[in-house]
Amino acid sequence: VGSGAAGALDGLLPRGCREVALVGDSSVMGLYGEPLARRLEALAGTVHRLSFPPGEASKTRETKAVLEDRLLEAGATRGLCVVALGGGISLDLGGFLAATYLRGVDWIAVPTSLLAQVDAAVGGKTAVNTPRGKNLVGAFHQPAAIAIDPTYLSTLAPVEWRAGLAELVKTACVADAALFAWIEGEVVALGAPHVLDERFLERCVGIKADLVVADEREAGPRAYLNFGHTIGHALEKASAHALRHGEAVASGMVVEAELARRLCGLPDRDASRLVACLAALGLETRRPSLPFAALAPFLGADKKRRAGRVGEVELALPRRIGEMAGAEGAWTVAAPLALLEEAWEARA
Ligand SMILES: NC(=O)c1ccc[n+]([C@@H]2O[C@H](COP(=O)([O-])OP(=O)(O)OC[C@H]3O[C@@H](n4cnc5c(N)ncnc54)[C@H](O)[C@@H]3O)[C@@H](O)[C@H]2O)c1
Ligand SMILES: [Zn+2]
Repeated sequence: VGSGAAGALDGLLPRGCREVALVGDSSVMGLYGEPLARRLEALAGTVHRLSFPPGEASKTRETKAVLEDRLLEAGATRGLCVVALGGGISLDLGGFLAATYLRGVDWIAVPTSLLAQVDAAVGGKTAVNTPRGKNLVGAFHQPAAIAIDPTYLSTLAPVEWRAGLAELVKTACVADAALFAWIEGEVVALGAPHVLDERFLERCVGIKADLVVADEREAGPRAYLNFGHTIGHALEKASAHALRHGEAVASGMVVEAELARRLCGLPDRDASRLVACLAALGLETRRPSLPFAALAPFLGADKKRRAGRVGEVELALPRRIGEMAGAEGAWTVAAPLALLEEAWEARA
């Protein structure tokens, strides 16, 4: 973590790396691709520049296949290292490409959005979407290195910045009440894109890294990071991606906190603090005007659902700000669909 981190890839490229595939959406590649590509050319020799149109609609098996075919046609070998540059979409796609190209090659994550720097870059989850749901096909494939350069953040669109703040609030809710209080105190400064303090980025990365190290495959406490995501992912799908991931997670947290009040004893005061914090950051605190029935099919398709009973959904819910409900062996809470619908209606 640090300004210039991406320029310092020298020491981070895996030994034996002979060529690089620089993968990113066309916006980020246009802004930051060439200087990085030239740096990588000096370090590794050949650099294949692979870009695709920005947006969730590109995070598919089809896009991955197009990129793979280009590498195969170029004759890229197992000495290839994928460098994924961009937001969570570029990282999820680039990482998954690396996971299966010639049965797997190394990759490096260079996150450029706030969401990717505080969340998506860490943990080795890579995936694409399918028509049945988000992130349904993918692999756990840890990057060889992650270079987080906060100076990238200065060019982020305000709407993308806000979407990233949602994951930041989530991280604090899940694991760190002090971080949550810090965000509350900084809401004015956090209102617009800027180059975030490195210590702060390190704290966010540290929280996620600790949960991932404890539970790489999400059989345990890593599931906590899904707070806001059961509803959030369903909203993304039901709205055909009219909502950004972070925006959907913000709405998802509000609805799921409402459920946590009813199911896990989340104090009213904590639920109110969450809503007030999201509102002050310019995020949505009401659920979109969709009928619950529009969401239901996507709640069922959520792969995070354990083999639970029919009519129940498994969710990661907070017991208070900074601490999640559930204990040893039970990291999520089973909620009757009817109770979830009640919470949904309550946030109209
Ligand atoms: N793998 C994980 O653990 C994980 C965690 C959270 C989210 N995700 C995934 O991440 C995706 C969302 O990520 P995102 O919000 O970063 O979306 P994104 O990758 O689409 O980036 C958002 C937009 O900002 C632009 N952008 C990125 N960096 C920029 C910069 N520095 N300057 C200017 N523009 C820039 C991009 O071109 C894009 O248009 C979702 O698909 C979500 O499922 C994955
Ligand atoms: Zn997320």
